[in-house]
Amino acid sequence: MKLIVTGGAGFIGSAVVRRAVRDGHRVVNVDALTYAACLDNVAEVADHPDYAFVEADIRDRAAMDAVFAEHRPDAIMHLAAESHVDRSIDGPGTFIDTNIGGTYTLLEAARKYWTAQGRPDTFRFHHISTDEVYGSLGPTGQFTEDTPYDPRSPYSASKAASDHLVRAWHHTYGLPVVLTNCSNNYGPFHFPEKLIPVTIINALAGKPLPIYGDGSNVRDWLYVEDHAEALLLVVQKGQVGRSYNIGGENERTNLELVQTLCAILDELRPRADGRPYAEQITFVADRPGHDARYAIDPSRIRAELGWRPSVTVEEGLRRTVQWYLDNEPWWRALQTRDGVGRRLGTGG
Ligand SMILES: NC(=O)c1ccc[n+]([C@@H]2O[C@H](COP(=O)([O-])OP(=O)(O)OC[C@H]3O[C@@H](n4cnc5c(N)ncnc54)[C@H](O)[C@@H]3O)[C@@H](O)[C@H]2O)c1
Repeated sequence: MKLIVTGGAGFIGSAVVRRAVRDGHRVVNVDALTYAACLDNVAEVADHPDYAFVEADIRDRAAMDAVFAEHRPDAIMHLAAESHVDRSIDGPGTFIDTNIGGTYTLLEAARKYWTAQGRPDTFRFHHISTDEVYGSLGPTGQFTEDTPYDPRSPYSASKAASDHLVRAWHHTYGLPVVLTNCSNNYGPFHFPEKLIPVTIINALAGKPLPIYGDGSNVRDWLYVEDHAEALLLVVQKGQVGRSYNIGGENERTNLELVQTLCAILDELRPRADGRPYAEQITFVADRPGHDARYAIDPSRIRAELGWRPSVTVEEGLRRTVQWYLDNEPWWRALQTRDGVGRRLGTGG
């Protein structure tokens, strides 16, 4: 397939780009290179004949029209977004502009291109979204594709709005869309402002390992390469107009997760003084409106497309810690980016 991937210099987008090229697809990576982007994430494919990079903003209609006209894709996989909840608390404006306005612009550019092509049924607009649109769960239950939307942060509200736009473009204009809503991803190339990389990097630096609130918030963790595989399956075989929930069925409290990372580090890179890294765990003020629990029911994608995660959370976390130990120059270079290493999203 010829794919446009937006946000392909980010964490998940780059995993999709690397995997798609490996699988024999032709890929055009469209990314504005915001603070969260890193072209090293796609260095593996940079010189591949089936790969091209276009630096462009999804809010720029002329640029998006030009990308469609020049590259004539079979499908677009839309991952470009502002993605960090804490940043959305401090500055919601860019989340509204990029996640809602950018998705609208992309939908219109895609509709124009698809119409000019004679409205082929085979075209796909694949919108990549999050489980956070469903809100927060109590101690039991899981999000299904029919769970009502109840977003509670500026980030999740902006993603929910973009999901609604994508469905509206399907119902109103017939644009062949598919949507996916995924749980928390982790793995190599995770930007060093998110919980797992922050924990590993701070541990190695002898710094406190910050846990928001009492650490009881539960997330359902999925290894990023398993997510990339699921996305490529959905864009090729997903049913038009349908949403697919993607999750790892790996629920952990934030405290359990950080403790597990500490135990892996104790084994792979013991502290010089022989003491456990868990001693560095520090409880800090909670995130305002912090959702208590997310959990995904992935029955639909399993039953319809035969997908299931290939990596257990234990194995995935071990691989991730090892990757950060082996790739220090990658994360060191990103530590100078604006906001990295500072506590964000306190609502103050
Ligand atoms: N990280 C997760 O756990 C997770 C879970 C579920 C869904 N998602 C969704 O997956 C997608 C990718 O998430 P991620 O964690 O890889 O994000 P990321 O922040 O690592 O990467 C986002 C990429 O989008 C690019 N971008 C941002 N604004 C842009 C714009 N206006 N024009 C063009 N490019 C722009 C950035 O430069 C960056 O390369 C997002 O849509 C996010 O909502 C993420």
